[in-house]
Amino acid sequence: MPAPDPTAVNSMFGRIARRYDLANRLLSGGMDLWWRRRLVAAVHRTAPGAVLDLATGSGDVAFALARALPPSAAITGMDFCQPMLDEADAKKGAAGPNRFANVIFRQGDGLALPLPDASVDAVTIAFGLRNLADRARGLGEMRRVLRPGGRLFVLEFSQPSPWFRPFYFFYLRKILPFVAGVVTGDRAAYVYLNETIEQFPDRAALAEEIRTAGFSSVSARGMSFGIVALHEAAR
Ligand SMILES: C[S@@+](CC[C@H](N)C(=O)[O-])C[C@H]1O[C@@H](n2cnc3c(N)ncnc32)[C@H](O)[C@@H]1O
Repeated sequence: MPAPDPTAVNSMFGRIARRYDLANRLLSGGMDLWWRRRLVAAVHRTAPGAVLDLATGSGDVAFALARALPPSAAITGMDFCQPMLDEADAKKGAAGPNRFANVIFRQGDGLALPLPDASVDAVTIAFGLRNLADRARGLGEMRRVLRPGGRLFVLEFSQPSPWFRPFYFFYLRKILPFVAGVVTGDRAAYVYLNETIEQFPDRAALAEEIRTAGFSSVSARGMSFGIVALHEAAR
C-alpha cells in the first residue's frame, strides 16, 4: 500500500468528523476509551508541564490528559483537519467556560510542526502515526519539539497475536466497513482504515523506526491481544 496521501486523509477525516466519536465507540466496543486511559496513565507518571497531543482529532486524548494532569499543565491538541478541531472545540465549549482552560486546539501539520525546538515535555499521538504520509519525518518533528529528556507516547494499532489474526482480519475486512458505513455514511473511509491497520508495522518494527528517528529507551506494550500497542520513548 502506498503512503497515505495527506490531501485525501485530510478530506476523509473532514467527512467523518461529526460521527467520528460514535464510530470509535461502536467499532471498538468501547475499548478505545480504555486504550486512551492507559496512554494517559503512562503520561501522568512523567508529570509533564507542557504536552503536545498530535493528530488530536476530536480531542479525546487532550481532554483525558487535562482530567489527569494538574491544571498547570499546558495541553495543545494539534491536527491538520479543521472539521476535527471544530468537533474538539465544540466539546470544550459544551463542557463549560472554565473547564479545560489549560487545553487549546491548534491547526498544524505533523510533518512541519508550527512549534519551536525543545518546547514541550511530552508528545502524544493516538491512532495518528498510521495516517502520516512520512512517518520518519513526523517522528523527526516530534523529536525536534521535545526538550532533551522529554517523552514520546505512541498509541497505535499493531499486529495481533498470530492465533487472533484470522478473526481480527475478518472483522476488519467484512464487519468494520459495513458497520462504519452505516454509522458515518462513508464506507470507503473505513476500507482505508482497515488497509492502514493491516499494513502497519508490528511492535518490534515500530520500535526500530522510533529508535532510527533518534529516540532512546524505547519500550512497547501490547493491549487487547496485541491489536493496539503503546510505545514510549525518550528524546
Ligand atoms: C484516527 S484519528 C485519531 C484522533 C485522536 N487522536 C483519537 O485518538 O481519536 C487520526 C487524526 O490524524 C490526523 N492527521 C493525519 N495526518 C496528519 C498530519 N500530517 N498532521 C496533523 N494531523 C494529521 C487526522 O486529521 C485525524 O484527525
